[in-house]
Amino acid sequence: MSTAWEEFEELIKAKMREVYSETAIDHGMNPRNVGEIQDADGFGKITGPCGDTMSIWIKIKDNTIIDAKFTTDGCGTSRASGSMATEIAKGKDLAEAQRISRQDILDGLGGLPEESEHCALLAANTLNESIKSFLTRQKSGNS
Ligand code: FES
Repeated sequence: MSTAWEEFEELIKAKMREVYSETAIDHGMNPRNVGEIQDADGFGKITGPCGDTMSIWIKIKDNTIIDAKFTTDGCGTSRASGSMATEIAKGKDLAEAQRISRQDILDGLGGLPEESEHCALLAANTLNESIKSFLTRQKSGNS
């Protein structure tokens, strides 16, 4: 027999499914790649117009992103977006990773409500910033 709490949880999930895909709910509730990389090769941190901040750390080997992690103080959809952005980025070479767009993240998540699409843009921009920081360090000979 289910408890009142379990019934409440099911009700909430049913409501969420009306708005979000299963993938978006999964990445929002169980985000992948959360945390920092201590010896990261690239780092990006951006505060979006909504006031939420995302940080992304990347580890690079042979011009390929071999690890990516993120943190955010933002909403569930920003967690889902950071999770998807880092998942998509891993294994990509830098040129491919630089082309990861808001739309790629939205596609990966099975879409987001229009009012949350900017969360995917924040993740795409932060990822790009982390790659740029690596390239800048490389150019200046500090990597
Ligand atoms: Fe700000 Fe989602 S509302 S990143």
